[in-house]
Amino acid sequence: MNYFNYRGDELYCEDISLNELAVKFGTPLYVYSGKTILRHFHAFDNAFKKHDHLICYSVKANSNIAILNLLVQSGSGFDIVSKGELYRAIKAGADPSKIVFSGVGKTEDEIEMALIAGILMFNVESELELITIDKVAQRLGKKAPIAFRVNPDVNPLTHPYISTGLKKNKFGIPHDRVIDVYKKALELENVEVIGIDCHIGSQITQLGPFNEAVEKMLNLIDIIEKLGINIKYVDLGGGLGITYKDEEPAHPNEYGESILKYFKNTNKTLIFEPGRVIVGNAGVLLTKVLYRKDTREKNFVIVDAAMNDLARPALYGSYHSIVPVNKKEGNNIEVDIVGPVCESTDYLAKNRTITEPEKGDILCVMSAGAYGFSMSSNYNSRLKPAEVLVYKDEYFCIRERDTLEDLVSKEIIPQIKVE
Ligand code: LLP
Repeated sequence: MNYFNYRGDELYCEDISLNELAVKFGTPLYVYSGKTILRHFHAFDNAFKKHDHLICYSVKANSNIAILNLLVQSGSGFDIVSKGELYRAIKAGADPSKIVFSGVGKTEDEIEMALIAGILMFNVESELELITIDKVAQRLGKKAPIAFRVNPDVNPLTHPYISTGLKKNKFGIPHDRVIDVYKKALELENVEVIGIDCHIGSQITQLGPFNEAVEKMLNLIDIIEKLGINIKYVDLGGGLGITYKDEEPAHPNEYGESILKYFKNTNKTLIFEPGRVIVGNAGVLLTKVLYRKDTREKNFVIVDAAMNDLARPALYGSYHSIVPVNKKEGNNIEVDIVGPVCESTDYLAKNRTITEPEKGDILCVMSAGAYGFSMSSNYNSRLKPAEVLVYKDEYFCIRERDTLEDLVSKEIIPQIKVE
């Protein structure tokens, strides 16, 4: 069941016409389907219903507090990587005891904020971080619950920019150092080891790499528990992929079965940090055709969304399907769909065959719900787009479009008299 469908020639999100939203809110515009987000969350959650588990949605994928709130209401916890994400989760009503804190560069003030909030655990990524957490916890008279993030050195078979569990990546504790850091933690008074964690990468479509990581984790758990440490939580990170074009990622149920076979006879609580699989295909970016420019080399369609709104094509060469909001008759032509930003990498699609678009047409960039708005910027002093959440036959503006005033609101002209 897909909640982005044509009714006649017009594309809808649930019961709302996307054309109507583009007219009402302007473009570029992010639109999310609440029902899709919830369906994806429940599909993932149900895949693990036979075992004690906690889903900690990865806030970085889409951090709008309205979306976080939908997930709070569904019982989700959160995976955060900064105090900004912690702040957002709490604003959205999250239960801090369902929050895990990942990331290689947690600062002392971030650690302090998380300790005061009472998060479930820190996923510790280095020995120096361990010592820092212990120090901050001591200052606050607290005991910090921790897991170590293991770098299992597994090839996730995904885009090199988004693989994180290889030896050469900056993430986690190298596999051969893991036992030593667990021993080290035993010596510290203000940390309590409660788990183990790994995250091997993103947009992973095959189960092999996940299985390989789990097997390595289980071996480590065996050794760690022999040290007298009880590993209650096993956090397996996020990373399950989605279909952008013709990928055929494992369904959450297959992923679930393949993981659960390892944990059937254990009393460990499994934690997952899915991001993309929850929100990726629940969001689209609407953009208006500004101009056509045909050169001898290329046909360009210049639209009002750019790499500052959706960075993925420019950053990773990612494919996003692009369809018209209003279907019409016309010739098919091959085009590059590009934005107004002054960079050659500013494109949304290259060598794409579409029905010849005209000035004023609204195009819909699909699968833009994950790492879309959350990676947007004001580059070229462009105003960040508005975001709208659709739920059944209602829609809500969940973030207003930037104003010109917003652009400079933090900037200060000092009293310099130029000579
Ligand atoms: N947990 C940790 C520790 C992570 O670093 C990430 C993503 C996730 C969970 C969620 O992974 P997911 O389920 O969404 O694959 N900007 C890139 C993706 C970067 C992913 C970063 N880490 C993109 O647009 O493809």
